[in-house]
Amino acid sequence: MKRIRKEVSVEELVEGMILGTCLHDDCGNVLLSEGLQLTPTTIERIDKLNISSVPILYEVEDFIKPKVALENIDSVSIEETIYETRVIMDRSLRKFQFNELLEFEKLKAVVNQLIAEILAKDFVTVNLTKIKNTDAYLLEHSVNVCLLSLVTGVYLGYAKDELIHLGLGALLHDIGKMFIPDEIINKPSKLNEEEFDIIKNHTVFGGEAGKKINGLSKESVEIILYHHERIDGKGYPYGVHSEQIPVYARIVSVADVFDAITSDRIYRDRIDAYTAVEFIIGETGTKFDKDVVRVFLKLVGYYPIGLRVSLNSGEQGIVKKKNKKKPVIRILLDDHARPVPGYYEVDLKKNPSVLIEDFKLKGEFDK
Ligand SMILES: [Fe+2]
Repeated sequence: MKRIRKEVSVEELVEGMILGTCLHDDCGNVLLSEGLQLTPTTIERIDKLNISSVPILYEVEDFIKPKVALENIDSVSIEETIYETRVIMDRSLRKFQFNELLEFEKLKAVVNQLIAEILAKDFVTVNLTKIKNTDAYLLEHSVNVCLLSLVTGVYLGYAKDELIHLGLGALLHDIGKMFIPDEIINKPSKLNEEEFDIIKNHTVFGGEAGKKINGLSKESVEIILYHHERIDGKGYPYGVHSEQIPVYARIVSVADVFDAITSDRIYRDRIDAYTAVEFIIGETGTKFDKDVVRVFLKLVGYYPIGLRVSLNSGEQGIVKKKNKKKPVIRILLDDHARPVPGYYEVDLKKNPSVLIEDFKLKGEFDK
């Protein structure tokens, strides 16, 4: 299987990674040889070498199923591809508006490119563009949801062909809104029940349109149809629940809500990402899929105050002070799950080797 060598910072090393070079001491003696599988002990030895990063060998499959700690996602730029996606999507939406064929092959190519970028970079932080121009909301939102869904899909371990279904469905999830009158879509005040019922039709209208797009898979069409379905069965258009909702649609629904809440809309200003995450956590298990939210939360890294977390040190605590990906944690239980007399705090920013390993979502407190 093809192997790729990538530089990984020492803080991001995890057990099982394959060393991509020979490491020597000051006198040139071999300390660790190339091809060695890292263990906690070897990671500790590397940590003491006073180097910031080491080459790690990845098999191609490792890129599809990343095994690195999600908290270590680095910021990289895929802005150019995102820009290109926006341009092609913009053209497609305009064509679609006038009953012309959208540029499906170009959309597919650009989604492919996005996937390749995400997989090759290995670590991606999604820096979404937030715009004030609400006219361009559908375009911007579609691309953002596509990107968020794809990165979630990568971390859930999907293969490339699955990611294409997911990416294209996410990009086109709201295409049915093109069939809803502008005065309802752009209404600056709250929709009445009748208007809301009309808006709900965008799922079915979009699904019908999607079926006519030559080459768009059944899985992608299902995303368009089911992205407003909810785990408790209180979504629309069908009111199906849990596993009846295709998993790709469950991913897109979380990305959709997160991006919608954190964007400016014609009827309200954007809401901050922590509040959006709190809302999503509060509705996990009722509206949103737990497994998807768990990955999504790690991906965006907005840990709200009060969230119960467990650390790679074995300690457990709650988020005391917000800081993206690196909050301050008040430790309540030690590494043997024994209550800590009093408490103490760990600032993850000042302790880069301490990482959030997991957290408790709604209904998981007693487990
Ligand atoms: Fe929608």
